[in-house]
Amino acid sequence: MAVAFASSPTSSPTCTVLPRQAGLLGISGSPRTLQWTKKERRCRRKAGPTITAKLDLKPPPYPLNALEPHMSQETLEYHWGKHHRAYVENLNKQIVGTELDGMSLEDIIIISYNKGDILPTFNNAGQIWNHEFFWESMQPGGGGKPDGDLLELIERDFGSFEKFVEEFKSAAATQFGSGWAWLAYKANRLEVGNAVNPRPSNDDKRLVIVKSPNAVNPLAWDYSPLLAIDVWEHAYYLDFQNHRPDYILLFIEKLVSWEAVSSRLEIAKARDAEREGEEERKKRAEEEKMADSKGVEMYLDNDTDNSEVE
Ligand SMILES: [Fe+2]
Repeated sequence: MAVAFASSPTSSPTCTVLPRQAGLLGISGSPRTLQWTKKERRCRRKAGPTITAKLDLKPPPYPLNALEPHMSQETLEYHWGKHHRAYVENLNKQIVGTELDGMSLEDIIIISYNKGDILPTFNNAGQIWNHEFFWESMQPGGGGKPDGDLLELIERDFGSFEKFVEEFKSAAATQFGSGWAWLAYKANRLEVGNAVNPRPSNDDKRLVIVKSPNAVNPLAWDYSPLLAIDVWEHAYYLDFQNHRPDYILLFIEKLVSWEAVSSRLEIAKARDAEREGEEERKKRAEEEKMADSKGVEMYLDNDTDNSEVE
């Protein structure tokens, strides 16, 4: 994942996205795949001092002034250019020479979450992933109302879009101290290492709103994050001072990229279907193995019976 980039937060990057396959061993020991996260990016800025890091500082997918007047360039310069950058630099220092060196960011997060007994690398790793996800949760001219499958699912699981907005705003406003609020897709999981509820229930295969403290994100519970709002003070203080509810309202009404959320939902559903298929195939293979084993036992039993008759 080596990448070279310059430290200027305002220069225009040139990036190529390289798909990469990476397996992940869950706590149960079974291989898992996080499809939508398996990317390796190599970014080179056109000017400025060059430093090399194992994990790169991924820029927002728009210029730093593109979200004005709702989110200022100054906020992006500090939030992305200083806070996000610090998480990347700190994690690179932490993992160099360790077994985490070279792993994907998602693998580092899951391993460092350590069933809630978090390891020192978790906060920086989580914050890098969360911020990349947050930048891509917004777009210039965003906000409004989603459509298609996403809207149908929102209406099914929250009653109406308006009720969803109220619940999301409430979660973001009531997260005590620093943290995040999320819309996530909770799939049906039979065996999940870090999940709070690893058993199938009526709450599976649906959208959920959750909030998390500090750097925690729904990946740690094996949910598929669809939308995130950063409610650390550094996210809004320059523009809104202590008025967090005003920031949340602007985020929903003017900044959310429903296109990104819809795309993430489709990927999450496809990922879930693939994992269910894998589980089904494993189950059938085990059943066939057991059936074959019983056939051999019957044959041996018959042999024994014949020998006794003779
Ligand atoms: Fe932040």
